[in-house]
Amino acid sequence: MNIVSIGGGPAGLFFGILMKRADPAHRVRVIERNRPNDTFGWGVVFSDETLGNIADADPPTTDAITRAFAHWDDIDIHYGGAVVTSTGHGFSGMSRVRLLNILQARAAELGVELEYEREVADLTGFRDADLILAADGVNSRLRETYAAAFEPEIDFRPNRFIWLGSTLKLAAFTFVFKADAHGLWRVHAYQFDDQHSTFIVETTDQTWRKAGLDRADEDQTIAFCERLFADELKGHRLLKNKPVWRSFPIVRCGHWWHDNIVLMGDAAHTAHFSIGSGTKLAMEDSIALAQALGRHRAVPDALAAYEAERRPQVESTQRAAQTSLQWFEETERYFGTLEPIQFAMSLLTRSLRITHENLKRRDPGFVARVDRWFAGKAANQSGVNVAAEPPPPPMFTPFRLRELVLPNRVVVSPMCQYSADDGMPNDWHLVHLGSRAIGGAGLIMTEMTDIAREARITPGCAGLYKPEHAAAWRRITDFVHANSPAKIGVQLAHAGRKGSTRLLWEGIDEPLETGNWPLIAPSPLPYLAHGQVPKAMDRADMDRVRDDFVRAAGYAQTAGFDLIELHFAHGYLLSSFLSPLSNRRTDAYGGDLTGRARFPLEVFDAVRAAWPQTKPISVRISATDWAPGGFDGDDAVALARLLKAHGCDIVDVSTGQTTTEAKPVYGRLYQTPYADRVRHEAAIATMTVGNIASYADVNSILAAGRADLCVLARAHLYDPYWTRHAATAQGYALPWPNQYVSVAGYQPRFT
Ligand SMILES: Cc1cc2nc3c(=O)[nH]c(=O)nc-3n(C[C@H](O)[C@H](O)[C@H](O)COP(=O)(O)OP(=O)(O)OC[C@H]3O[C@@H](n4cnc5c(N)ncnc54)[C@H](O)[C@@H]3O)c2cc1C
Ligand SMILES: Cc1cc2nc3c(=O)[nH]c(=O)nc-3n(C[C@H](O)[C@H](O)[C@H](O)COP(=O)(O)O)c2cc1C
Repeated sequence: MNIVSIGGGPAGLFFGILMKRADPAHRVRVIERNRPNDTFGWGVVFSDETLGNIADADPPTTDAITRAFAHWDDIDIHYGGAVVTSTGHGFSGMSRVRLLNILQARAAELGVELEYEREVADLTGFRDADLILAADGVNSRLRETYAAAFEPEIDFRPNRFIWLGSTLKLAAFTFVFKADAHGLWRVHAYQFDDQHSTFIVETTDQTWRKAGLDRADEDQTIAFCERLFADELKGHRLLKNKPVWRSFPIVRCGHWWHDNIVLMGDAAHTAHFSIGSGTKLAMEDSIALAQALGRHRAVPDALAAYEAERRPQVESTQRAAQTSLQWFEETERYFGTLEPIQFAMSLLTRSLRITHENLKRRDPGFVARVDRWFAGKAANQSGVNVAAEPPPPPMFTPFRLRELVLPNRVVVSPMCQYSADDGMPNDWHLVHLGSRAIGGAGLIMTEMTDIAREARITPGCAGLYKPEHAAAWRRITDFVHANSPAKIGVQLAHAGRKGSTRLLWEGIDEPLETGNWPLIAPSPLPYLAHGQVPKAMDRADMDRVRDDFVRAAGYAQTAGFDLIELHFAHGYLLSSFLSPLSNRRTDAYGGDLTGRARFPLEVFDAVRAAWPQTKPISVRISATDWAPGGFDGDDAVALARLLKAHGCDIVDVSTGQTTTEAKPVYGRLYQTPYADRVRHEAAIATMTVGNIASYADVNSILAAGRADLCVLARAHLYDPYWTRHAATAQGYALPWPNQYVSVAGYQPRFT
């Protein structure tokens, strides 16, 4: 094959090496505009895992890289005068020039033709090539030339960073968080050879401008940073290598190949430097493309196979990088609020790649410190004595809301069962909720329980609008209280414009075929285009609904519930007041958030007044509509502040289901960032829900302070004993009910 690489960075060089290894008859040319020793920046970092991936592809390259490495296991986090250290992370750093020199030498040895100091403006002159690599880096000219085919999207992130060097020797990967009069500064630093460290300084655009760095030249920038980090630099200087303050561009492309041109490395995709994966991705691209060419005779087939293999892996890394970079964009939220150990936990688990469980394997001592600290906090907060040695996993610590003390942090999410008749709970509900209480969760929530007959979503929805309902619920709460340490809450709701629809398994949100009841909503807008048009509520409707909520709260007390959750989420009545997409009112109950929240808060206040002061109220919200012009994160924080001022104890942070226009971005823990934000910015306790996959996630969320309680829905449908099984897996002794003590010592096996 006749191959040309435009760009002699890690992607182009390593691909050349691999192709010549596969068949010395290939002609491979690498065209590079710079000289061999020119490079921007200083060092690159690889995790041990990355090195494993490239080791098999070309052992001589790996050997040379390994010899050039500075290796470390520790991460030091400088925060508020303290240094928190975590070990076991296994990273290596090396100079970028050295890496390029190794790749250049190996490529030359194998017969790759290297042409330096030639800038390629277009592809005239390369038409004879069978394959052209667009390995020309983040600002790829080829990608832009063929933009119509590659469909690039470039998202320039708001933070500013500069890549500096230093003669400071660092024993650990070092993060520094330091505030001055202008704002908060972050440093990402690591040693990459005997004498040098990379020293990346990052801050928000606002802080950068306030410090006057938008007008500073290189020397002024260096002088500023040397002054700011004088303590950390211990007398060492900062070094420059054509440094400029930049905004990180996230590159994504709709297509990675066009005719015989293929994008690789930074030209195709970038991943923020805070997860140190750019070089790894570039080299893994080379491996995948070389292998695809070995498997497929026709170039287009190989390019398609390369993209099919690499795209999901790259996108997964980009998702991790996205949560990581957002953490660094939002560090002001945590700085000064979190204690050093929790700040460290929040930093280390930011990309979701590292969990409490991974850390336990890497650094059991650090996790024991975290758990001990967390247990101490939980003991203070709840007034319950928590065993200090060994400390329990964070999920098995108590949590207090007013006089209610939950035995642990796992919550069974409200889940409609569509099995009631005229709102009446029955044996299904007893067994469903009862078995989940035996299953070990600390708080069991009923399904959405409606405050009036016409407030139901479907004819099968549960209710709390008749004295008989209160008695039937009492049987369930009595069972839970008598047979488990779990507490039980009721989610009170009015379906609003999403009412009068079919059971889940007969067509969710679809209007009933017969027997519909009239709907009410803030504005006369149907949920589905072909759905029933609701009546816009007048004051009398509001009074009636408010009073129905109050009546339900009274029944909830008779029924023996420990907590009320008001349903302000998922597009039901109170949620539809909050969203500007469903509330188009022009009176005092519409308009800005204060207006839109007015009626939901009237309901809240009335219920709060009717519900015993010793018992807590939670509110579930949809923190975003996932739709343009809709309710979003800022509104969620503002609403949470209002709720707190009105006496709400905890916000259960969900999202969406408010409009059919929504475009949610699903993924693991996809709603947790909203709970985290509300918790820190509104200073109120939060529950997080949504794709919480494992007990490792639960412990990570809690220990990092992203939420106070973790709510699991489908996991509990699948496994009513989810919490018990999580305890067993962690070696934590969660007492079994007497009837089941024979299980002690029993080893379950599924294979
Ligand atoms: C601040 C910062 C820190 C980073 N830290 C790390 C880290 O710790 N670990 C890590 O793995 N990655 C890190 N990266 C990312 C890493 O540098 C890149 O992801 C990696 O170099 C990508 O390799 P590449 O071959 O795709 O592109 P590049 O390394 O950018 O190579 C592209 C080459 O193409 C050449 N070129 C461009 N246009 C032309 C043209 N028209 N004609 C001829 N030649 C051309 C360029 O001169 C360049 O040499 C960091 C990036 C930044 C910005
Ligand atoms: C069958 C089912 C019924 C649900 N009913 C309710 C409900 O009554 N009230 C509510 O707020 N959310 C309800 N939800 C949403 C869940 O409480 C939860 O927010 C969602 O399933 C995401 O959590 P998960 O990823 O752990 O399943 C329901 C979810 C399911 C699967």
